[in-house]
Amino acid sequence: MNELLEVRDVVAGYGDGPAILNGASLKVQPGKVHCIIGPNGAGKSTLLKAICGMLKVRQGDVKLRGEDLKGLRPDQVLKKGICFVPQERALFPKMTVRENLRMGGFSLEDKSDLEERIDEIEERFPILKERRDQHAGTMSGGQQQTLSMARTMIIRPDIVMLDEPSLGLAPKIVQEVFDIMHVMAETGITVLIVEQNALMGLKNADWGVVLDLGRTLFEGPADEVLADPRIQELYLGGKKAA
Ligand SMILES: Nc1ncnc2c1ncn2[C@@H]1O[C@H](COP(=O)(O)OP(=O)(O)O)[C@@H](O)[C@H]1O
Ligand SMILES: [Mg+2]
Repeated sequence: MNELLEVRDVVAGYGDGPAILNGASLKVQPGKVHCIIGPNGAGKSTLLKAICGMLKVRQGDVKLRGEDLKGLRPDQVLKKGICFVPQERALFPKMTVRENLRMGGFSLEDKSDLEERIDEIEERFPILKERRDQHAGTMSGGQQQTLSMARTMIIRPDIVMLDEPSLGLAPKIVQEVFDIMHVMAETGITVLIVEQNALMGLKNADWGVVLDLGRTLFEGPADEVLADPRIQELYLGGKKAA
C-alpha cells in the first residue's frame, strides 16, 4: 500500500511519566477519512499529539511519505503539512472570525495570497463570511467548530487531525461537522479524526482504527471494523450497525 503517513508501534508518554502509548500503529491513505475510536483514556488524543510533535516518541516510527517525523517540533510538523485541531479548538475568542482565519495562515512563508485564500474559505463556508466581523468567542459551538476546521484549510495541508470535533455539540450540528470533514476530503485533504461516537465516526470514515490501552487492537476498512463482532461487542453496545 501507498501510505501517506505511517505510525508503527509507537511508545510515548508525558514527560518522564509512564508510557501512555505502547504499540500504537496506523496507516493513513491519501485522500481518505480515518477514524480512531476507543474508550476514554485509551490514548487517542495522546496519539494525535505524538504525531504532531507535542510529545516525544520514545520508540517506533512516525513517517510521512517515508520521511521520519520523530524529534520534529509541532511547528515543523505543521510545515510538513500536518495540521492538528485539538479538542479545545484553540480559536482566538476575542478576535474576529476573519482575524482567526488570518491567524490560520501564520505559518505560511509566502503570505502574498493570504487574503485570497481567506476569501476562498468564506465562499466555501458562507456562515464565516456572514460572521466575519464577529468575535469568534461569541459564536455558537457549531460555528466555532466550523471556523476551527475551515481555518486549517488556509495553509492547504496534506493531513488534518481532528480531536473529537463533535464533542458537546447538538446531534443536528454533529452531522454538519462530518459534512465539513467530507468537504475537506473532497478538496484532497486527508483526514484523521478521533471520535467518541464510534458508530457515527466509522460510518463517516473510510478507515477505522481501534485503540485501547495505548495499543492498536485493530485497523481496517471502516465497514469491516463496524461489522467486526469484537468491535460490535466492545464499542457499539453489541448492537448490529444499521
Ligand atoms: N497532559 C498529560 N499529562 C499526563 N498524563 C496525561 C496527560 N494527558 C493525558 N494523560 C493520560 O494519558 C492517558 C490517555 O489519555 P488520552 O490520550 O487523553 O485518552 P483519550 O483521548 O483516548 O480519551 C490517560 O490515562 C490520561 O490520564
Ligand atoms: Mg481524547
